[in-house]
Amino acid sequence: MPLVAPSLLAANFLRLEEECALINDSEADWLHFDVMDGRFVPNISFGLPVLKAIRPACNKFIDVHLMIEEPEKFAEDFKKAGADGLTVHYEACRHLHRNIQQIKSLGMQAGVSINPHTPVLLLQDILSDVDLVLIMSVNPGFGGQQFIQNSYHKISELRRMIDERELGVKIEVDGGVTVENAKLLVEAGADVLVAGNTVFSSPDPRETIKMLKQI
Ligand code: DX5
Ligand code: ZN
Repeated sequence: MPLVAPSLLAANFLRLEEECALINDSEADWLHFDVMDGRFVPNISFGLPVLKAIRPACNKFIDVHLMIEEPEKFAEDFKKAGADGLTVHYEACRHLHRNIQQIKSLGMQAGVSINPHTPVLLLQDILSDVDLVLIMSVNPGFGGQQFIQNSYHKISELRRMIDERELGVKIEVDGGVTVENAKLLVEAGADVLVAGNTVFSSPDPRETIKMLKQI
């Protein structure tokens, strides 16, 4: 059974309290929180003040996905604002190992994310240091995009690397996840499914979360 992480990016921002209550009241495991800086990705989303505001309203694990340059400058602030897990991009970190240690020393789960063009093999020397690898199955920056088919291959390849070394690293998949492709993603080796539009644009988000959980 996968962990399900609805992405707040697809929620109604005018009603964040209600959207958090909906997630609390659902079978979702995590709340996925996308931070974009307009530099690493060609879009700007939300950041620290919004995280701080929703934290008391959310009783799930908050999974912060930083799509920003120089994430090390903000790790401590995200911890203070209420992040439980912090994921940084391989492509945005010159000193990834140091950044991962920083996140762990702050008491958060540490994740690394890779863009669709980045091979999973490049994670070989960081794999034993992280709690999670987030495979982007769309180009980061926007919700509601189409799933990139090559991601299945990346997930199974990474699953093999993790299992060979008997590591407990979780594989999270983010972008274009639907009720239709979720089963294949879990079969390929995904542990955590992020779902934005699939959840929040559905007629009954609670029921959709339940369907994703039952995969
Ligand atoms: C995209 C974000 C995703 C996004 C996914 O850059 O990282 O988390 O919210 O949205 P959907 O599930 O709609 O593709
Ligand atoms: Zn994300």
